[in-house]
Amino acid sequence: MTELRYRKATLADAEAIRNIIVASVEGLSRGDYDERQIQAALGSAFGLDSELVRDGTYFVVEDGSEPVACGGWSKRKTLFGGDQQAGRQSELLDPAADSARVRAFFVRPEWARRGIGRTLLELCEAEARQHGFHSTQLMATLPGHRLYKACGYIGDERVDTPLPGEVVIEFIPMRKNLGG
Ligand SMILES: CC(C)(COP(=O)(O)OP(=O)(O)OC[C@H]1O[C@@H](n2cnc3c(N)ncnc32)[C@H](O)[C@@H]1OP(=O)(O)O)[C@@H](O)C(=O)NCCC(=O)NCCS
Repeated sequence: MTELRYRKATLADAEAIRNIIVASVEGLSRGDYDERQIQAALGSAFGLDSELVRDGTYFVVEDGSEPVACGGWSKRKTLFGGDQQAGRQSELLDPAADSARVRAFFVRPEWARRGIGRTLLELCEAEARQHGFHSTQLMATLPGHRLYKACGYIGDERVDTPLPGEVVIEFIPMRKNLGG
């Protein structure tokens, strides 16, 4: 096995990222969400946010030339959701007053539990800190909650979130103080 490479995503990765998202959600969410929720969330709450790619704050993880995971952070207000998600907010956050967003972590099922999520999170937090942010916040899926909780994020309250087609899904708002 080659060493994994963590690099910035480009718009040329869009299709590979979409494929990772589908494989990840379909393979790793079934214990937490039902089929209607998964299909409604794919393409809305779980889609690619190309704004992050353009901002240079989204990563792709590769095994050789094979993309196996993605995730990033944001200096913009949108808390979650892909390009198709309603209610996007592109305004820039104020690092002195606002929390950077942690966004859209997806790992291929065969690569789960090998530390990729944790490593991506550390990269994102380090970059957010370099940009002057003192805290991060995110909207976690139920699978994501296990990762973020293990990495020092606080928040346990499940929030019903509407999806297209009158489907509702539970997410959990979480935050972390970056210190310093
Ligand atoms: C959430 C997700 C990104 C985690 O990625 P990952 O690379 O498997 O996570 P890591 O291997 O870095 O896990 C780090 C720690 O988080 C916790 N953790 C992660 N997944 C867990 C699980 N399924 N059950 C229990 N603990 C888990 C563990 O403490 C783990 O450490 P350990 O393996 O040494 O016990 C992945 O499960 C995923 O893609 N899920 C589907 C998509 C999704 O919901 N993404 C989150 C969007 S907010």
